[in-house]
Amino acid sequence: MDQNKIGMFISEKRKELNITQEELAELMNVSKNAVSKWERGLNLPDASLMKNLCKILNISLNEFFNGEENNLELSELTKIFEKKNEKIIAVDHVTYKFEPGKLYAIMGHSGSGKSTLLNILGTLDKQTTGEYKINGKETIKLNDNELNYIRRKNVGFIFQNYLLDPNLRSYENVMLPMFVNNEIKKDERKTRALKLLEYVNLENRFNHYPKELSGGEQQRVAIARSLANNPQLIIADEPTGNLDEKNEKIIFEIFRKLANDGKLVIVVSHSDNIVKYADVVLYMKNGRLGVYNEG
Ligand SMILES: Nc1ncnc2c1ncn2[C@@H]1O[C@H](COP(=O)(O)OP(=O)(O)O)[C@@H](O)[C@H]1O
Ligand SMILES: [Mg+2]
Repeated sequence: MDQNKIGMFISEKRKELNITQEELAELMNVSKNAVSKWERGLNLPDASLMKNLCKILNISLNEFFNGEENNLELSELTKIFEKKNEKIIAVDHVTYKFEPGKLYAIMGHSGSGKSTLLNILGTLDKQTTGEYKINGKETIKLNDNELNYIRRKNVGFIFQNYLLDPNLRSYENVMLPMFVNNEIKKDERKTRALKLLEYVNLENRFNHYPKELSGGEQQRVAIARSLANNPQLIIADEPTGNLDEKNEKIIFEIFRKLANDGKLVIVVSHSDNIVKYADVVLYMKNGRLGVYNEG
């Protein structure tokens, strides 16, 4: 725990809310001097005050102790595709905050904007207007290098068609994203790949080629590959679209496990079965995002 960092974080969030130290002190029922001491890292708020402070600053207790935000925040996010004379509003003024440790299901008819939204969340695409903040930072202000870094190391993608390399064995497919990550040493790659295959219960298939695996197994290899660089965010676009219910259940259980392990998991699915596993069920309709239930 870094008291200085927490102090700067309090100050930053307070300024975002456009309130003065006096005003925050009044809201918290403490002296201005107390607030000033928190912000300079000289003091931590009393434990009994923390919950209220977090509520006012709109941060979680976890974020408070880390001294930084840990979420994905969309604000009036809009994506418009222009084709000839036609304008398609694929994502329409979406405002929402995704938090780690949760499994979000996004449902909705084909063409409602789900994939477009996922692509923006994964920084594969950019919004037309509105704001997208990753851990409090506006993505529009990040340069290509920073976006590349996020895409490679902080996001894991899973698609309906697995997209495995047919010429590589399971563990080699899983190793592939590690080649662009100099934080994972060369001689650690294979061990790490095997561990990830174990995580998805495929330790006995590590040497197989994709064509020697069932669809469900291929998707589990793809999930292990998405975890190669230990991303914070896992994005899956209709991951069980080609699978039967038995394999679907296995895949959804893995997503549940990932969320329990602290990852932020966002799954677009047409299957009602996802509802049982999700913490939050969202739906999209004509580019608008709505909340079905928040458990
Ligand atoms: N690259 C693109 N160019 C033009 N229109 C697009 C493009 N991508 C998606 N769209 C349109 O945006 C809308 C939303 O598409 P999409 O996000 O793929 O929906 P979903 O994933 O919910 O089926 C659709 O009308 C689709 O035709
Ligand atoms: Mg789609």
